[in-house]
Amino acid sequence: MTSVFVAASADEAAQTACERLRTAIEEARSVRGGAHVALAGGTTPRRTYELLATQIDDWTGVEIWFGDERAVGPDDPESNYRMAQETLLSGDSGPQVHRIEGERGPEDAAAAYAAELEGLLPQERGVPVLDLALQGLGRDGHTASLFPGNPAVQATGTCVAVHEAPKPPPDRITLTVEVLLAARSIVFLATGAEKADAVRALLAGPDPAVPSSLLGGDRTEVIVDRDAAPPDAS
Ligand code: 6PG
Repeated sequence: MTSVFVAASADEAAQTACERLRTAIEEARSVRGGAHVALAGGTTPRRTYELLATQIDDWTGVEIWFGDERAVGPDDPESNYRMAQETLLSGDSGPQVHRIEGERGPEDAAAAYAAELEGLLPQERGVPVLDLALQGLGRDGHTASLFPGNPAVQATGTCVAVHEAPKPPPDRITLTVEVLLAARSIVFLATGAEKADAVRALLAGPDPAVPSSLLGGDRTEVIVDRDAAPPDAS
């Protein structure tokens, strides 16, 4: 059953997401000797990454991945990597970062990233296992670059190309539902009244028309502020 944490404010939601990331990293390092975390793109997680940068001094064994990327280079204002670079990854000593090379184009970048994930992550039943996947949530119920009605939502494999995304830019790269769902922990972070309907749809149960809802389950937590919270959430 997907759990919901209702924070008093967007900043408290960011702090809570930061704590979930920090805890997952410490647990993975102590149990498995290392941590593989996939970051979300968009704008919501910016504060979380700024906070996390102040919470961890020793990044030994931490490997940062991305749930999706736009088909752009690392310096492009649209790059999810760039946002993480500006907030979490700007320090002198930081985690090992695995950037999706969006500038190669969706197909080539997706193939290369799939090979990297499959080569470096532990696997369960042939699927790479992340320790934590941090997910954003779009107003239409998308997450990562898994958009309603897009073929990528049904794709098998590890990482796939996305075209005609309704959220610009249209060409992207995304981890698949299969890989994201295999993560030991999935944390959604959604704030603001404009996300309330999408949160409700996410929690209503798996529906391919609401790609984020396909990632619900016992290992999934949705962190919201009061404005994004469903009416019945405590
Ligand atoms: C992207 C993100 C996307 C994002 C949501 C929410 O590349 O755009 O991966 O899934 O997380 O669209 O975006 P905001 O946080 O900006 O509302």
